[in-house]
Amino acid sequence: MTESTLIANPFFAGRMKRAATRNEACDRPVYARLPLSPRNGSPVPHLTSLYHFHRAGDYGDRAYPGNCGGNLIKDLLTYFEPGLVFDPMSGSGTCADVCEEMGVPCVSFDIHTGFDACNAAEFPGPETFDFIWAHPAYWRMKLYADDPRDLSRSPTLDHFLRRYGQFLRNCASALKPDGKLAVLMGDYNDRDEGFVPLTFHTKRLAFAAGLRQHCTDIIRFSHGASSGKKVYRSRFIPGLHDTCMVFTKNR
Ligand SMILES: C[S@@+](CC[C@H](N)C(=O)[O-])C[C@H]1O[C@@H](n2cnc3c(N)ncnc32)[C@H](O)[C@@H]1O
Repeated sequence: MTESTLIANPFFAGRMKRAATRNEACDRPVYARLPLSPRNGSPVPHLTSLYHFHRAGDYGDRAYPGNCGGNLIKDLLTYFEPGLVFDPMSGSGTCADVCEEMGVPCVSFDIHTGFDACNAAEFPGPETFDFIWAHPAYWRMKLYADDPRDLSRSPTLDHFLRRYGQFLRNCASALKPDGKLAVLMGDYNDRDEGFVPLTFHTKRLAFAAGLRQHCTDIIRFSHGASSGKKVYRSRFIPGLHDTCMVFTKNR
Protein backbone atom coordinates (compact mmCIF):
# COMPACT_ATOMS: atom_id res chain seq x y z
CA MET A 1 0.00 0.00 0.00
CA THR A 2 1.51 3.30 -1.03
CA GLU A 3 1.48 6.44 1.02
CA SER A 4 -0.57 8.19 -1.69
CA THR A 5 -3.35 5.53 -1.50
CA LEU A 6 -3.55 5.96 2.25
CA ILE A 7 -3.76 9.70 1.96
CA ALA A 8 -6.42 9.56 -0.77
CA ASN A 9 -8.65 7.41 1.43
CA PRO A 10 -8.55 8.60 5.02
CA PHE A 11 -10.99 5.89 6.13
CA PHE A 12 -8.79 3.18 4.65
CA ALA A 13 -5.85 4.75 6.45
CA GLY A 14 -7.81 4.33 9.68
CA ARG A 15 -8.17 0.63 8.98
CA MET A 16 -4.42 0.38 8.55
CA LYS A 17 -4.09 1.65 12.15
CA ARG A 18 -2.55 4.89 10.95
CA ALA A 19 -3.88 8.30 11.73
CA ALA A 20 -5.63 9.61 8.62
CA THR A 21 -4.29 12.90 7.40
CA ARG A 22 -6.35 15.52 5.66
CA ASN A 23 -5.65 16.11 2.04
CA GLU A 24 -6.36 19.15 -0.04
CA ALA A 25 -8.90 17.41 -2.28
CA CYS A 26 -11.11 16.67 0.75
CA ASP A 27 -10.91 20.28 1.90
CA ARG A 28 -12.15 21.78 -1.35
CA PRO A 29 -15.91 21.96 -2.04
CA VAL A 30 -17.26 19.40 -4.53
CA TYR A 31 -19.83 20.61 -7.06
CA ALA A 32 -22.57 18.12 -7.93
CA ARG A 33 -25.11 18.61 -10.70
CA LEU A 34 -28.66 18.67 -9.33
CA PRO A 35 -31.65 17.23 -11.22
CA LEU A 36 -33.95 19.72 -12.95
CA SER A 37 -36.93 20.61 -10.85
CA PRO A 38 -40.41 20.79 -12.44
CA ARG A 39 -41.89 24.28 -12.74
CA ASN A 40 -44.93 24.70 -10.56
CA GLY A 41 -46.96 27.29 -8.69
CA SER A 42 -44.71 27.32 -5.60
CA PRO A 43 -43.78 30.81 -4.38
CA VAL A 44 -40.33 29.36 -3.51
CA PRO A 45 -39.19 27.38 -6.58
CA HIS A 46 -35.77 26.68 -5.04
CA LEU A 47 -37.42 24.84 -2.12
CA THR A 48 -37.08 21.25 -3.31
CA SER A 49 -36.23 17.93 -1.68
CA LEU A 50 -32.54 18.92 -1.89
CA TYR A 51 -31.79 21.95 0.26
CA HIS A 52 -28.25 22.85 -0.64
CA PHE A 53 -27.84 26.56 0.10
CA HIS A 54 -24.68 27.14 2.06
CA ARG A 55 -25.58 30.59 3.39
CA ALA A 56 -27.25 30.31 6.81
CA GLY A 57 -28.75 33.80 6.82
CA ASP A 58 -28.34 36.35 9.55
CA TYR A 59 -30.64 34.77 12.13
CA GLY A 60 -30.08 33.34 15.61
CA ASP A 61 -26.51 32.82 16.75
CA ARG A 62 -24.27 30.69 14.54
CA ALA A 63 -22.05 30.01 17.57
CA TYR A 64 -24.93 28.31 19.44
CA PRO A 65 -24.44 24.52 19.39
CA GLY A 66 -26.90 23.00 16.92
CA ASN A 67 -27.82 26.35 15.36
CA CYS A 68 -29.70 25.62 12.15
CA GLY A 69 -29.51 28.73 9.95
CA GLY A 70 -32.73 30.54 9.09
CA ASN A 71 -33.14 30.32 5.33
CA LEU A 72 -34.94 26.96 5.32
CA ILE A 73 -37.38 28.26 7.95
CA LYS A 74 -37.92 31.39 5.87
CA ASP A 75 -38.64 29.34 2.76
CA LEU A 76 -41.09 27.09 4.62
CA LEU A 77 -42.93 30.11 6.06
CA THR A 78 -43.07 31.70 2.61
CA TYR A 79 -44.49 28.48 1.21
CA PHE A 80 -47.05 27.71 3.94
CA GLU A 81 -47.98 31.33 4.87
CA PRO A 82 -48.95 30.43 8.45
CA GLY A 83 -50.62 32.68 11.02
CA LEU A 84 -49.23 31.90 14.47
CA VAL A 85 -45.86 30.05 14.65
CA PHE A 86 -44.38 28.13 17.61
CA ASP A 87 -40.76 27.09 18.21
CA PRO A 88 -40.71 24.93 21.36
CA MET A 89 -36.93 24.24 21.28
CA SER A 90 -35.74 27.65 20.18
CA GLY A 91 -32.01 27.54 21.05
CA SER A 92 -30.52 30.83 19.89
CA GLY A 93 -33.84 32.07 18.50
CA THR A 94 -33.33 31.48 14.77
CA CYS A 95 -37.03 30.87 14.05
CA ALA A 96 -38.14 33.91 16.09
CA ASP A 97 -35.66 36.11 14.17
CA VAL A 98 -36.98 34.87 10.82
CA CYS A 99 -40.57 35.45 11.95
CA GLU A 100 -39.77 38.95 13.13
CA GLU A 101 -38.25 39.81 9.76
CA MET A 102 -41.29 38.41 7.97
CA GLY A 103 -43.81 40.00 10.31
CA VAL A 104 -45.19 36.60 11.36
CA PRO A 105 -46.25 36.25 15.02
CA CYS A 106 -44.14 33.68 16.83
CA VAL A 107 -43.98 32.15 20.31
CA SER A 108 -40.70 30.49 21.28
CA PHE A 109 -39.41 28.70 24.38
CA ASP A 110 -36.51 26.46 25.31
CA ILE A 111 -35.41 24.33 28.26
CA HIS A 112 -32.97 27.18 28.95
CA THR A 113 -35.97 29.39 29.73
CA GLY A 114 -37.41 26.69 32.03
CA PHE A 115 -39.91 25.25 29.52
CA ASP A 116 -39.99 21.46 29.09
CA ALA A 117 -41.45 20.73 25.65
CA CYS A 118 -41.78 17.05 26.56
CA ASN A 119 -44.23 17.79 29.37
CA ALA A 120 -47.85 17.82 28.17
CA ALA A 121 -48.92 19.91 31.19
CA GLU A 122 -46.54 22.75 30.23
CA PHE A 123 -47.27 22.74 26.51
CA PRO A 124 -49.64 25.37 25.05
CA GLY A 125 -53.26 24.27 24.70
CA PRO A 126 -54.88 22.31 21.87
CA GLU A 127 -55.31 23.76 18.37
CA THR A 128 -53.31 26.94 19.02
CA PHE A 129 -50.72 27.13 16.22
CA ASP A 130 -50.73 27.11 12.42
CA PHE A 131 -47.09 26.07 12.14
CA ILE A 132 -44.60 24.52 14.55
CA TRP A 133 -40.87 24.58 13.80
CA ALA A 134 -39.18 21.81 15.80
CA HIS A 135 -35.43 21.38 15.86
CA PRO A 136 -34.83 18.96 18.73
CA ALA A 137 -31.59 17.57 20.08
CA TYR A 138 -30.28 14.69 17.94
CA TRP A 139 -30.25 12.69 21.19
CA ARG A 140 -26.76 13.17 22.74
CA MET A 141 -24.90 14.39 19.65
CA LYS A 142 -24.64 17.81 21.34
CA LEU A 143 -25.40 18.49 25.00
CA TYR A 144 -27.44 21.58 25.73
CA ALA A 145 -28.68 22.36 29.25
CA ASP A 146 -27.45 21.07 32.57
CA ASP A 147 -30.99 19.86 33.26
CA PRO A 148 -32.15 16.22 33.24
CA ARG A 149 -35.29 17.26 31.30
CA ASP A 150 -33.09 18.32 28.38
CA LEU A 151 -33.64 15.70 25.64
CA SER A 152 -29.90 15.58 24.99
CA ARG A 153 -29.39 14.36 28.58
CA SER A 154 -31.57 11.25 28.11
CA PRO A 155 -29.50 8.43 29.61
CA THR A 156 -30.72 5.74 27.19
CA LEU A 157 -32.16 5.61 23.68
CA ASP A 158 -35.45 4.20 25.07
CA HIS A 159 -35.72 7.13 27.46
CA PHE A 160 -35.01 9.59 24.65
CA LEU A 161 -37.60 8.01 22.34
CA ARG A 162 -40.26 7.95 25.07
CA ARG A 163 -39.77 11.66 25.76
CA TYR A 164 -39.42 12.52 22.06
CA GLY A 165 -42.69 10.66 21.36
CA GLN A 166 -44.42 12.74 24.05
CA PHE A 167 -42.96 15.90 22.50
CA LEU A 168 -44.42 14.99 19.10
CA ARG A 169 -47.81 14.22 20.69
CA ASN A 170 -47.70 17.64 22.38
CA CYS A 171 -47.00 19.29 19.01
CA ALA A 172 -49.80 17.32 17.31
CA SER A 173 -52.26 18.47 19.95
CA ALA A 174 -51.17 22.14 19.79
CA LEU A 175 -51.55 22.32 15.99
CA LYS A 176 -54.72 23.70 14.48
CA PRO A 177 -56.50 21.36 12.04
CA ASP A 178 -54.57 21.49 8.75
CA GLY A 179 -51.60 22.99 10.66
CA LYS A 180 -48.05 21.97 9.81
CA LEU A 181 -45.26 20.59 11.97
CA ALA A 182 -41.77 20.83 10.41
CA VAL A 183 -39.19 18.72 12.25
CA LEU A 184 -35.48 19.02 11.44
CA MET A 185 -33.68 15.87 12.60
CA GLY A 186 -30.47 14.03 11.81
CA ASP A 187 -29.48 10.40 12.30
CA TYR A 188 -27.04 9.64 15.09
CA ASN A 189 -24.16 7.27 15.51
CA ASP A 190 -21.78 6.42 18.30
CA ARG A 191 -19.54 3.60 19.41
CA ASP A 192 -21.90 2.37 22.16
CA GLU A 193 -25.25 2.58 20.38
CA GLY A 194 -24.19 2.13 16.73
CA PHE A 195 -26.30 3.78 14.04
CA VAL A 196 -29.54 5.28 15.37
CA PRO A 197 -31.98 6.23 12.58
CA LEU A 198 -33.60 9.20 14.31
CA THR A 199 -35.35 10.34 11.13
CA PHE A 200 -37.11 6.97 10.94
CA HIS A 201 -38.09 7.23 14.60
CA THR A 202 -39.40 10.76 14.00
CA LYS A 203 -41.79 9.50 11.33
CA ARG A 204 -42.83 6.45 13.33
CA LEU A 205 -43.61 8.57 16.41
CA ALA A 206 -45.30 11.36 14.43
CA PHE A 207 -47.59 8.87 12.68
CA ALA A 208 -48.38 7.28 16.05
CA ALA A 209 -49.33 10.79 17.25
CA GLY A 210 -51.96 10.96 14.50
CA LEU A 211 -50.02 13.13 12.05
CA ARG A 212 -49.37 12.34 8.41
CA GLN A 213 -46.51 13.41 6.21
CA HIS A 214 -47.47 16.38 4.06
CA CYS A 215 -44.75 16.44 1.39
CA THR A 216 -41.38 15.09 0.38
CA ASP A 217 -38.52 14.89 2.87
CA ILE A 218 -36.28 17.93 2.54
CA ILE A 219 -32.67 16.76 2.66
CA ARG A 220 -30.67 19.66 4.05
CA PHE A 221 -27.00 19.57 3.11
CA SER A 222 -24.89 20.04 6.26
CA HIS A 223 -22.77 22.94 5.08
CA GLY A 224 -20.64 24.31 7.91
CA ALA A 225 -20.94 21.25 10.22
CA SER A 226 -17.95 21.17 12.57
CA SER A 227 -17.46 17.41 11.94
CA GLY A 228 -16.53 18.19 8.32
CA LYS A 229 -13.17 19.49 9.50
CA LYS A 230 -12.32 16.51 11.71
CA VAL A 231 -10.07 13.54 10.96
CA TYR A 232 -11.04 10.07 12.25
CA ARG A 233 -9.04 6.85 12.40
CA SER A 234 -12.07 4.64 11.92
CA ARG A 235 -13.84 3.77 8.65
CA PHE A 236 -17.43 4.97 8.05
CA ILE A 237 -19.69 6.53 5.44
CA PRO A 238 -20.04 10.19 6.48
CA GLY A 239 -23.58 11.54 6.75
CA LEU A 240 -23.62 15.01 5.20
CA HIS A 241 -27.25 15.96 5.68
CA ASP A 242 -30.11 16.17 8.08
CA THR A 243 -33.77 15.86 7.14
CA CYS A 244 -36.69 18.23 7.44
CA MET A 245 -40.01 16.38 7.59
CA VAL A 246 -43.29 18.28 7.30
CA PHE A 247 -46.31 16.69 8.95
CA THR A 248 -49.90 17.82 8.90
CA LYS A 249 -52.85 17.39 11.18
CA ASN A 250 -56.03 16.24 9.52
CA ARG A 251 -58.93 18.65 9.48
C1 LIG B 1 -30.80 21.68 17.92
S1 LIG B 1 -31.00 22.86 19.21
C2 LIG B 1 -32.03 24.08 18.46
C3 LIG B 1 -31.19 25.14 17.81
C4 LIG B 1 -32.00 26.25 17.19
N1 LIG B 1 -32.79 25.75 16.08
C5 LIG B 1 -31.07 27.36 16.72
O1 LIG B 1 -31.01 27.63 15.51
O2 LIG B 1 -30.38 27.96 17.55
C6 LIG B 1 -32.09 22.00 20.27
C7 LIG B 1 -32.60 22.84 21.42
O3 LIG B 1 -33.54 22.05 22.18
C8 LIG B 1 -33.47 22.47 23.52
N2 LIG B 1 -34.10 21.42 24.33
C9 LIG B 1 -33.65 20.18 24.65
N3 LIG B 1 -34.53 19.51 25.42
C10 LIG B 1 -35.59 20.34 25.58
C11 LIG B 1 -36.82 20.21 26.28
N4 LIG B 1 -37.14 19.10 26.94
N5 LIG B 1 -37.69 21.26 26.22
C12 LIG B 1 -37.37 22.42 25.55
N6 LIG B 1 -36.20 22.59 24.90
C13 LIG B 1 -35.31 21.56 24.90
C14 LIG B 1 -31.98 22.67 23.76
O4 LIG B 1 -31.72 23.54 24.84
C15 LIG B 1 -31.54 23.29 22.41
O5 LIG B 1 -31.55 24.70 22.48
